[in-house]
Amino acid sequence: RKPITTSKLKKMKQDGEKITVITAYDYPSAYLAEEAGIDVILVGDSLGNVVLGYDSTLPVTIEDMIYHTKAVTRAVDTTFVVTDMPFMTYHGSLETTMRNAARIMQEGLAKALKLEGGLEIVQAVEAITSAGIPVMGHIGLTPQSIHQIGGFKVQGKTNVQAQKLLDEAKALEQAGAFAVVLELVTDEIAAWITEQLSIPTIGIGAGPTCDGQVLVFHDLLGYGPETAPKRFVKTYANVGGMIKQGIEQYVKEVKDRSFPAAEHSFQANQELVGKLYG
Ligand code: KIV
Ligand code: NA
Repeated sequence: RKPITTSKLKKMKQDGEKITVITAYDYPSAYLAEEAGIDVILVGDSLGNVVLGYDSTLPVTIEDMIYHTKAVTRAVDTTFVVTDMPFMTYHGSLETTMRNAARIMQEGLAKALKLEGGLEIVQAVEAITSAGIPVMGHIGLTPQSIHQIGGFKVQGKTNVQAQKLLDEAKALEQAGAFAVVLELVTDEIAAWITEQLSIPTIGIGAGPTCDGQVLVFHDLLGYGPETAPKRFVKTYANVGGMIKQGIEQYVKEVKDRSFPAAEHSFQANQELVGKLYG
C-alpha cells in the first residue's frame, strides 16, 4: 500500500471511507498494527497509564514520548504516525513549544503531533503547522486536564458546551490542524461537528458518525490488568489472558522438569562425554 498522508486522510473523509486509528507504543505492537491494515498509529501519552503504570497522563515526559515514538517508527513503513505532545510541553513560550515539537519530529521521526485543547492552544497549533509539522487536535474530554474537568465525563451536554466544542474544532481547523480527535462526546454533537468540518474527526466514545475511530491498543486487545469495562471500548481479543496462560504453563513445565526437553537443548557427542566423566 502507498504511505498514508494527511491529504489521503482528508480524501478518505470526502469519500466516506472510515479512518482507522490505534495507539501503539513499541516495535511489536506497531508492526502488528501495520500488518493488520491500520491507517494511523497514535503514540498516545496514554502510554503513561497502559505501559508505565501511572494513574494519569500527567507524569509522561517528552523523553518518554520520543523513546516510544522511535520504537514505533522503526516498525512501520506506510502507517501515518502521530505522537502526543505531553502535559505542559506546549503551554509555555512559543520557543519552548517549537523546541519540543522539533525534538519529537527529529528524534522520534513522527509524521505529526497531537495537542489537547481548544482556543488556548490555537497559537501553538499555528506556529507548529507553519513550521511544516502536521497537527492533530483533541477536544472534548482531554485527559491532560483531568483535574480541572473533575473526571471522565461526557462533554458537550449543554447548548453552550456544544457550541464551544464546535468553535474549538473550527478554530483548530482554521489554525491548520489536519484532523481532530473528539473524546467522550455524544453521538449527535460529534455528528454535528463532523458535518461542519472539512478535516476528519476521529472519535473515541463519540459515536459512529465520526470520520474515523481511535482506541487504545491495550483496551482493544485486553492486554494488561483487568480494569472496569469502559462503555466506549470494544475488546476484540483477550491478549492478557493468553499471555498469563502461556507464562503459567512455562512456570509449570520448568517446575515439573518437562521444559526444556531434548529438542530444546544441545547434546555433546558420547566420546567427549565419556572422557569428561572419566
Ligand atoms: O493518548 C491517547 O491514547 C489518546 C487517544 C485516546 C486519543 O490521546
Ligand atoms: Na493522549
